[in-house]
This record gives sequence, structure tokens and C-alpha cells, in this order.
Amino acid sequence: MTGLRFHIRTYGCQMNERDSEALAVLLRDAGYQSAGREEDADILLFNTCSVRDQAERKAVGKIGLMRRLKRARPGLIIGVLGCMAQNRGAQLLDELPHVDLVVGTDRLHLLPEILAEVTAGRRGQIHIEPGTEILGELQRHEPGKVSAFVSVMRGCDQYCSYCIVPYVRGREKSRPADEIVAEVRELVAHGTMEIFLLGQNITAYGLAERRRAGRLTPEDSPFAELLRAVNDVAGVARIRFTSPHPRYMNAAFIEAVTTLPKVCEAFHVPLQSGADRVLRAMGRGYTLAEYADRIRRIRDRLPEVTFSTDVIVGFPGETDEDFAATRNAMNDIAFDMAYIFKYSPRAGTRAAGLADDVPQAVKEERNQILLQDLERRTGTANARFVGRRVEVLVEGRSKRDARRWTGRTRAAKVCIFPPAEGVEAGRLIEVRIERVTPNSLFGVKV
Ligand code: SAH
Ligand code: SF4
Ligand code: F3S
Repeated sequence: MTGLRFHIRTYGCQMNERDSEALAVLLRDAGYQSAGREEDADILLFNTCSVRDQAERKAVGKIGLMRRLKRARPGLIIGVLGCMAQNRGAQLLDELPHVDLVVGTDRLHLLPEILAEVTAGRRGQIHIEPGTEILGELQRHEPGKVSAFVSVMRGCDQYCSYCIVPYVRGREKSRPADEIVAEVRELVAHGTMEIFLLGQNITAYGLAERRRAGRLTPEDSPFAELLRAVNDVAGVARIRFTSPHPRYMNAAFIEAVTTLPKVCEAFHVPLQSGADRVLRAMGRGYTLAEYADRIRRIRDRLPEVTFSTDVIVGFPGETDEDFAATRNAMNDIAFDMAYIFKYSPRAGTRAAGLADDVPQAVKEERNQILLQDLERRTGTANARFVGRRVEVLVEGRSKRDARRWTGRTRAAKVCIFPPAEGVEAGRLIEVRIERVTPNSLFGVKV
């Protein structure tokens, strides 16, 4: 059956955004149509996240609200996709009996077939078997994006003690480099300028495959090789990626990111904690000194580089001293941006076996302290750009003010400027910065 309209709501990380984009194209190819608004859809799909309890609760709450809608329109099809679907499986149908299909992270590419079964009346579909076929199947793109996500691997083998991702996304599996490069070529041929490579543990790209083939040395960085290959594609203007793991940021990686001209000088490097004791309990595989050493080696060679990070406060057993170590580390490293999370136990992970002993109020307080530190730093950090010329990739009109345009600098700073000759989406321009706020740079094209 075709002509039905679908709407996908996406939770969680960029990998989920990327999956949702590819799914939308897949569904349109199968004869379904995109519904701009939820109210207009015949099929409502929720691509979910499990990383924190709050993420799951948000999605369950929202999907729960759909019960009323479904009562009014019994033909409505409701699907739960992605990480929470993988995590909860059939149990979701008990909790949310109005759900018609549950499709886990390795089965998303089968969505058109699964929807055909559902529309034929076979509701209550559950597809959560692990597999690797999806790797080559879920790579279609919405046309004409200035900046495009490209997924280079799925899964994670790192098993940080607090993290559910390895359980919901499965074993690390990397796509062949030639396939990724072909996808990048195709994107560039259709106007894409910036390639944003995605993987939960992207610096481990290709390692599992090379290890299995018996030819892995500690000096290897298949990801650095991939960066070179993407850098060589004519028409690519900028390369970004997320998330590297400090443990695999070896000399080959550092060499690549500090010398390849298209790799942008803005890196997101999750720190998680500044206390070695906590890092060990998290199973992160590095000390603060090792982390700081990687940062320093990059900064020495790229003075303009900016760093952002992820930090967890209130991990089991985190003392005031541990927290102070995190706070100092964040101030010393001077991150331009940070995501700060309050620890939330995830069933099945190793840390879930530890007492969640930092009181909620203390987690909240530590969270606020780090946010305030960050605000104080970022409040003045952009001032150094005033009067300077920066390269900006134009993304489109500003959402806040359609008379102005927006883009990003190589250091990932949002830049706002008035229209001018040559200002159009996808163009690289030079902007002279006139004033700044903590979040944006304002200037004019030169
Ligand atoms: N692959 C990335 C990000 C994974 S999830 C990495 O290796 O860092 C995004 C962030 O969520 C993590 O970096 C971590 O800071 C946070 N996170 C993961 N599990 C969490 C938990 N149980 N409680 C609180 N924050 C968590
Ligand atoms: Fe989770 Fe650690 Fe894997 Fe990141 S590297 S996804 S934090 S297990
Ligand atoms: Fe969440 Fe899954 Fe991403 S758990 S953070 S959506 S990989």
C-alpha cells in the first residue's frame, strides 16, 4: 500500500538523526510520503534514545500521549524505532499497547517491509535481532544539504561502565573506506560542501576488522587513513567528525587531524571526568594526564583549535575531591563548549551494580557549578574574534531573522551576517567580525 504519510520524530544523538534521514528517503522510495506535521501523518515513528533514563522517559511519555490520537483514528500506525526499541523490545508493547511496531537498531533498513506487514493488518511486529546487513543499506541522503552526516561505523565495543550504547547498538562494525568515499563523492556531486563523519567510537573505525584479519599494530589508525581519503575528494571543503575516544588518539591520528587541510580545527573529545579514580571506575582507559597530553599535542600544532567535551557528574562514589578535579580540568583545558550530564544508572551496565550514592541535590549542584564556570569562560572567549576575518560556510537564512544569513566558521562558531553579493547557501565567504555574543559572531562579508 502506498500514499500513506509518515512522520519521524528523532531523539538522541547525531547517529539517530542520520538514521532518521536515511529512513525518510527509504520510505519515500517505497511509496510513502513525508507529512510535515505530526497531525497529518498516517504513520508516526519515534526514533528513540536510551542513553539516560530521562531520554527514555521523554519518549515513553510522548508515545503514551499518542494513545488518545489512536483512539480517535484507529487506522493510525505507531512505531518505536532505534535504541529504546532495542533496549526494551517486546516489553514496550506491554507498556504501550497502542504501539504497532518495534524496530531495533540493526533492523531499521527493513522498515518498508515491516510497514507493509503492519498495513496488511499484522500489527505488533517486533524486529530486534542483531545483524550487520544494515551497514550497507542505510545510506541514502536528503538531496542538497550544505553539510551532510556520513555514518562510518555502527555500535561500540568500549563498554564504559555507565554506558548503554554497546548494548543497544551492538558490536563495532565499520563500513569499507571505498564505500564511504563513494558516498562522499556522490554528496559533493550534489552540492554538499561539509562532510560530518559519524561513529560512537569513531577513532576505533576499522580496528575490529583489522584485528580480525591479524594485521593490527598500535601505530595504526584506520580512521586517520579514512580522513586522508575523504580529504582527497575534490569538492569537499570541510571535514568534521564525532566522537573520538582519547584512548585511540595515537600519533597517526594526531598527525592527520593537525595536517589535513580540510579537517576543521574544532574537536569534540569526551573527557567524562577529571579524576583518575573515577576514570578508572568508568573504564575509560586513560588518565587525566594522558587526555591533557593529547589535547596539548593538537593545540601545539593548531593554535586556533577549539575543543568541546562531555562530562558526567555524580558517578557512583564521586567525592568532593573528584568533582574538584573535574572542575579544575575543565578550566585548565578551557573547553569552548561542554555537555554536562548527571549520572543516571542504566540497567545491565557494570556501573548499575554500584550504589548510585551521590544524592540528586549534589548532582544538581555540581552540574550548576560546571555550567556557571563554562558560562563565565565562553562569555568572553569570543571577544578575540572582534575585528578579525574568518572563513564562513554559508548554511542559509537565519531562523531567528530571515533578513540575515547564517553559517559556521571552521572552529564551529555560528556566524550571522547581512545579505551581500555572493552570499548564498553552500558558499565559502570571508566575514569581518564586528561584535560577538557568547553564542554567535556578527559581521559583514568582505
Ligand atoms: N560515544 C561518545 C558519546 C556517547 S553518549 C563517547 O564515547 O563519549 C553521549 C554522552 O552521554 C556520553 O559522552 C556521556 O557523557 C553521557 N552518558 C552516557 N551514559 C550516561 C549515563 N548513564 N548517565 C549520564 N550520562 C551518560
Ligand atoms: Fe558509550 Fe563509552 Fe562507547 Fe562512548 S565509548 S558510546 S561512552 S561505551
Ligand atoms: Fe542515544 Fe542511541 Fe545515540 S542510546 S545517544 S540514540 S546511539
